[in-house]
Amino acid sequence: KLFWISLVLVFVLSAGLVMAAKPALRVGTDATYEPFETIDPKTNEYVGFDMELIKMVADEMGMELKLQNVGWDGIIPGLMNGNYDCLISAMTITADRKKQINFSTPYHENHQVIVIKTNNTKVKGPSDLVGKTVAVQNGTTGDLYASNIKNAKMKRFDTNPQAVQELLNNGADAAVMDDLVAFSAVKKSKGLKVVAIKDAALEEYGIGVKKGNDDLLNKINKAIATLKSNGKLAALEKKYRSA
Ligand code: ARG
Repeated sequence: KLFWISLVLVFVLSAGLVMAAKPALRVGTDATYEPFETIDPKTNEYVGFDMELIKMVADEMGMELKLQNVGWDGIIPGLMNGNYDCLISAMTITADRKKQINFSTPYHENHQVIVIKTNNTKVKGPSDLVGKTVAVQNGTTGDLYASNIKNAKMKRFDTNPQAVQELLNNGADAAVMDDLVAFSAVKKSKGLKVVAIKDAALEEYGIGVKKGNDDLLNKINKAIATLKSNGKLAALEKKYRSA
């Protein structure tokens, strides 16, 4: 008799566990972009602005975060293919990308900046890069910006740290990237400095969702609205601006 009672008990308990298990939110990210998304080599954990934000978004939605590290060049195709439910990757909302995927309401503002060697006294702005060699992460808005500089010789890399390394190795005169990423690169490697681009367009980051998945998009937008009104997004912004 005891056997049957315990059997029923185990059954009821495990059914309860299954029902309590949160649905997964599968998220793609190119975790090579400090301070937004990287993997801490010591702890092997995802860290950065985006990683903290997406955890808060998942919590707001009552979902369990499942991150996937993917290459930047395949991140939109992977989303369209259904490999994950959304992407967060310091991705600027652009008209071209909107043809392929949908974006959440913006969560962060950015401008492109130039990174050069500290001993370079000639580059004061983008006009000084005419005919120069510029390193970028392939397919980024930094790539787009630099590709419009007259006669610029573009060196395109899979990751942003590779572009920065090329500059450090004197394989490029400059690198172009997102502002907070540049500040973090300059802090990390000696001998680099940031030059602002006066006419740089305002960019806004969004979370990418597959077209047609409006249910998820609405939930994400609702979560972002909550994090905006309760001050948590502003606190995150402050933490990484002053970092
Ligand atoms: N904001 C830029 C863009 O949208 C660069 C983003 C690169 N992000 C990354 N995780 N590698 O193109």
